[in-house]
Amino acid sequence: MYNHPTMRLGVIGGGQLGRMLIAPARELGVAVNVLDPDPEAAAAEVADRFLVGSLTDPEALAELASWSDLLTYEIEHIDVSALQSLADRGVVIRPSARTLATIQDKLLQKRHLARHGIPVPEFLEMPSDDEPGSGADEGAHLSDAGKQIGYPCVAKARRGGYDGRGVVVCRDEAELRALPGPRLHWYLERYLADAAEPAMLVARGVRGELRLYQAFEMMFHPERNICDAVVLPAALPDAVQRRAAEIAVAAVESFETAGLFAIELFLTGDGEVLVNEIAPRPHNSGHLTIEACVTSQFEQHLRAVCGLPLGSTELLSPGAMVNLLAGGRSEGPVAISGLEEALALERVRVHLYGKRRARPGRKMGHVTALGADTNSALEAARAAADSLWIGASERV
Ligand SMILES: Nc1ncnc2c1ncn2[C@@H]1O[C@H](COP(=O)(O)OP(=O)(O)OP(=O)(O)O)[C@@H](O)[C@H]1O
Ligand SMILES: [Mg+2]
Repeated sequence: MYNHPTMRLGVIGGGQLGRMLIAPARELGVAVNVLDPDPEAAAAEVADRFLVGSLTDPEALAELASWSDLLTYEIEHIDVSALQSLADRGVVIRPSARTLATIQDKLLQKRHLARHGIPVPEFLEMPSDDEPGSGADEGAHLSDAGKQIGYPCVAKARRGGYDGRGVVVCRDEAELRALPGPRLHWYLERYLADAAEPAMLVARGVRGELRLYQAFEMMFHPERNICDAVVLPAALPDAVQRRAAEIAVAAVESFETAGLFAIELFLTGDGEVLVNEIAPRPHNSGHLTIEACVTSQFEQHLRAVCGLPLGSTELLSPGAMVNLLAGGRSEGPVAISGLEEALALERVRVHLYGKRRARPGRKMGHVTALGADTNSALEAARAAADSLWIGASERV
């Protein structure tokens, strides 16, 4: 039975995803407690209860759990052993701590997917700094790895990467050698030139029931490897759609836990569909479900983790979303201009995350536009985003 309306959900992480999860929670009478190290986190001002604490502090996680009937998270960078020991003591955590342990280490995630027969780009563990025969021979291992995967290749930080940080394209061995930090913090992937990047969102309920959204198309900032815009639905041939859905479902089923999952895919020039990575939570690609679908990804995640019936994923209208990244060159208190112009546009909605400080490139909000087709929606969303400026000082 659903203990309405006294269910208390603890959310680990108080960024914009946590903030956007709170709106549907309020509608469904679910109280939301949030843990984040930043007292000014995006979700702080809208949470029912807010706890300032580190996501890697077992005591803070235990305190959040003591306030809550169940826990979920909006970020992967959490102390998973602390989560596991809470789970061992009977705390309900969805998606499971075990799932997070696999997903938060991109190399373990890739191995898990490959083991379950899910297609991924070719990948390779980094040879360790102290492989047998290190010293004179040490370079040989790296050189072999580079040759095996081929140049350019992509070096990825196993943990802690986001928004393209921790993703380095290496054109030769010297660039591989120049990667910062211990070598074992990285692994290598084959570089996929000109791949499109569709994404799938799949919700899995507590009884294993599934709901899929139509495929999204993510567009990337040319230099920064950061998602810039998204359209829904992606323009994909039927066979590719079916393949993307099949792979996304297989990936989610492999974890056997409830929640909303975003599956970032690559579609290669040869029409091959591969999994880039999985996020066990609402995702930037799905923000436009708030306006474009019957059930938003945030409500869907909430329904999935709280054991409620999943909602319809039906598309109401084609749509587009553009991220609002902080401009300027410095960090400081946030300034916004152009809001009047953006709000004057028809069928456009502006979402600001309430972040008090701007840092160049930081995600400060997004705009969504609906349209007769994705092209017109994208044009409107871009017009709104272009008229807005957010940064650490006034636009000059
Ligand atoms: N093997 C690859 N070949 C070509 N491009 C890649 C490859 N892997 C990643 N990229 C590019 O870098 C982007 C970021 O990579 P990835 O998704 O692994 O990192 P991330 O920092 O976790 O991303 P985010 O937080 O934005 O989802 C990808 O969306 C893609 O544009
Ligand atoms: Mg990614």
